[in-house]
Amino acid sequence: MQSQCAEIRSQVSGRVLEITINRPERKNALTMAMYSAMADLLDAAVVDSEVRVVILTGSGGAFTSGNDLTDFLGGSASGEESPVFRFMQALYRFPKPVIAAVAGPAVGIGTTLLLHCDLSIAEDDAVFQMPFVNLGLCPEYGSSFLLPRIMGHTKASELLLLGKKFDAQTAADVNICNEVVYSGEALDRARVYAAELAQKAPEAVRLTKKLLRQGTLESGMAAIREEAGHFKARLQSDEFREAATAFMEKRPADFSRFD
Ligand code: COA
Repeated sequence: MQSQCAEIRSQVSGRVLEITINRPERKNALTMAMYSAMADLLDAAVVDSEVRVVILTGSGGAFTSGNDLTDFLGGSASGEESPVFRFMQALYRFPKPVIAAVAGPAVGIGTTLLLHCDLSIAEDDAVFQMPFVNLGLCPEYGSSFLLPRIMGHTKASELLLLGKKFDAQTAADVNICNEVVYSGEALDRARVYAAELAQKAPEAVRLTKKLLRQGTLESGMAAIREEAGHFKARLQSDEFREAATAFMEKRPADFSRFD
């Protein structure tokens, strides 16, 4: 199972597929080609009996800084026809366990995709953020639906409205990750859990995952669709243009002229 994109690495060993986001010079920011490659790998893994578990991780001390903002400024789509949406669907409906090993920044979809993994291990210096409002955008990938359910409305409002950074211990406290380990140890720990899961009865594992998720499966997908529609529109907004341009120009965004 080979990735078609140099910035997404893949390898299968011991019935575990490891997908590594590999664009460290951009803190593993995700381009459309990278989303497509990850969606392809997940789709192939659904039907590959040599894969029982997937590990998702990043190289160079970063998980991912989220969507590539240059891509978005350039007008790349994020609606249902886009590679982003294809990846979201593929992970959302993936029937086998997915374990995230998080080091460094996990921003935007880098945090929200963890809601769709089955286990998440974070290093103690990992930094999480859902900066959608700060960018003139809105929550994505079902986060406005799932976060109030897993951490309560109060905390979800704080993290989504203020869009502030939070550390690994906070992520564990609000149920975004399972376990915090020392720096440099997340992938090793994920491999231990993956090896354990890969030895278990595969149908029982898949059924358990399905049962755990079926209560929110359709309503979660409806939320993902609704958010994607708004998100696509927000990418055309002057508010987003100001925020993304400010990021590129390394200055704070100025929203004072907007109503
Ligand atoms: N899209 C495009 N480029 C990005 C990026 C992104 N999401 N995240 C980082 N980069 C680029 C930076 O512009 C920088 O480029 P440069 O070397 O040409 O200046 C390079 O990657 C390294 O990032 P830098 O900001 O210097 O690293 P840092 O360790 O100080 O901070 C982050 C890391 C992730 C906290 C910070 O880069 C960041 O906030 N990125 C934007 C995250 C974001 O808003 N994502 C979109 C969510 S929808």
